[in-house]
Formats: sequence, structure tokens, C-alpha cells
Amino acid sequence: MSMPDGFHLGGFENASIVVGERTVLRPVAEPDVDLLVRWHADPEVLRFWDDETFTRETMLERLAREQVAPYLVLAADGPIGYLQVWGNGEGGLDMFLEPGARGRGLGPDAGRAMARHLRDDRGWTRVTVDPYAWNDAAVRGWRTAGFVEVSRHEADDEHTAPWVLMEFRDLRGPHRMKP
Ligand SMILES: CC(C)(COP(=O)(O)OP(=O)(O)OC[C@H]1O[C@@H](n2cnc3c(N)ncnc32)[C@H](O)[C@@H]1OP(=O)(O)O)[C@@H](O)C(=O)NCCC(=O)NCCS
Repeated sequence: MSMPDGFHLGGFENASIVVGERTVLRPVAEPDVDLLVRWHADPEVLRFWDDETFTRETMLERLAREQVAPYLVLAADGPIGYLQVWGNGEGGLDMFLEPGARGRGLGPDAGRAMARHLRDDRGWTRVTVDPYAWNDAAVRGWRTAGFVEVSRHEADDEHTAPWVLMEFRDLRGPHRMKP
């Protein structure tokens, strides 16, 4: 496979900033590439990403894939994670936050914001996620974001362990009463 000689962003041609309540997602840009390589080298990210590491070149190839729109997740004090959108018209999300940003509800905020954007601004009919069944924090986080469990599956070509298919239903709605 030939290596890209520069930065080319795959996914939506008109990718735009997506605003959540506590996070903002913006399309990845060239200055983010080294940060993404560094994050993916962290064992606390790796183990959720099927142990896949990247060089700058292989990261550029990943970011250039036509079917995948890559976003950086930002909180008030800067970049905290990565979210990618697969598909067109319907499809799925993958996300990780850097370890120091987890456990504060920022991931669900970003996941909900992107799923709503795909549904409401882009007219997508279905948005799914596929966390591993062992990944409690992810299954709970996606539930908080408005995804519901649809089915459970065994390991397959794209999953190294049993996994859960979840679909965005947004049952809590934008004006949910706080408990
Ligand atoms: C999954 C992820 C994006 C969720 O984002 P987040 O901001 O941490 O989400 P939350 O703070 O709402 O935490 C999610 C749930 O996991 C729990 N949790 C958080 N950190 C945890 C940890 N280290 N161990 C166990 N549970 C944990 C939270 O208490 C919460 O559960 P609750 O809703 O019952 O209170 C984030 O934890 C992450 O990046 N994990 C590693 C990568 C990953 O698993 N990606 C998803 C692949 S599908």
C-alpha cells in the first residue's frame, strides 16, 4: 500500500464542529496527528483498541480512510480524546478518552452530541456502537449517552471477544429532569 505523503482527512467532505453540553468535537487536523500517535501508544488506550499501535505514517493512512470521519474530543481545558464515525446514512461510533479524562461523564456527553448530530443534522437512520461485553465502563457510558442494548454477539472477524450491539435511541431526551 502506498504511504500518503501529506495530511488528508477522510470521512465527511463537510465535517463540522459538533457541540455537546460539556464537550466539543472537531474534525481532526494535521497538528493533532502526533498527539493521536502518542495516545494510541498508551497501554491504557491500547487495551481498548485491540492493541493496535501507529506510526505517524500509519496514522495518516487511518485518518485518510474514506468511510471514517475522525474527530478530536475537546473539553474546557483542551483535547481529551478521539471519536470516529463509520458509514454513511447509517453507521457506528468508536471513541476513547485519554485515561485522565475518564469517569467524569465527558465521554457520554461527546457520544450523545455526535449521535444527535448524525441523526438530526445529517438524517442518519441508525447509529450504533459495539463495545466488548467485558468493557463495563463503555457499555454503561454508551447507555448514559442514549444507546440501548440490541443484541449480544460472539467474537468474529472484527471483534476479538464477545461484544454488545447498541443502538442510539436517545430515550432521555434533551430536557431530561436531573435526578
Ligand atoms: C468508555 C468511555 C469513552 C466512557 O467515557 P467516560 O467519560 O469515562 O464515561 P463516564 O464517566 O460516564 O463513565 C462511564 C461508566 O463507567 C464507570 N467507570 C468509569 N471509569 C471506570 C473504570 N475505570 N472502571 C470501571 N468503571 C468505570 C462510570 O462510573 C460510569 O458508570 P455509571 O454510568 O454507572 O456511573 C471512557 O471510559 C474510555 O475512554 N474508556 C476507554 C476506551 C473505551 O473503552 N472506549 C469504548 C470502546 S466501545
